[in-house]
Amino acid sequence: MASTELKKLMDEAIARELKVSIQYMFQHIMIKGKRARFIGTELRVIAMAEMLHAEKIAERLVYLGDVPTTIPAPVDITGTEQEILQKDVAEEAYAIDLYKKIVKKANDDGDSTTRLLFEQILAEEELHHQTFQTLLGE
Ligand SMILES: [Fe+2]
Ligand SMILES: [Fe+2]
Repeated sequence: MASTELKKLMDEAIARELKVSIQYMFQHIMIKGKRARFIGTELRVIAMAEMLHAEKIAERLVYLGDVPTTIPAPVDITGTEQEILQKDVAEEAYAIDLYKKIVKKANDDGDSTTRLLFEQILAEEELHHQTFQTLLGE
């Protein structure tokens, strides 16, 4: 069964999914410049995907008997277009590291449902990471 440590990591994941969902949505609303329409559309699509991640992880945490956080990690929508995209690349890299850790912990705990959930979300975070890198021109 899921350990306290695994559930703590999942709660951190929820706080961060809520954060990036708000962050990307407001970057989409606020972004200016020649590429604003194009980048903004990508940000909006990814913001919605992140909200669905928060939902799925929270549902799983409730199933495991915990109350999920409703408090996002601190949101940051400041910066130029380039700075915004650099921050978002870093957000996705952080999520990838955290979810690899959760996949491993869920596997160690014998919780294959949580492992599968995070493997699926991890695949999406890798695509977000790639999208932001592409928009950044890396
Ligand atoms: Fe996510
Ligand atoms: Fe993501």
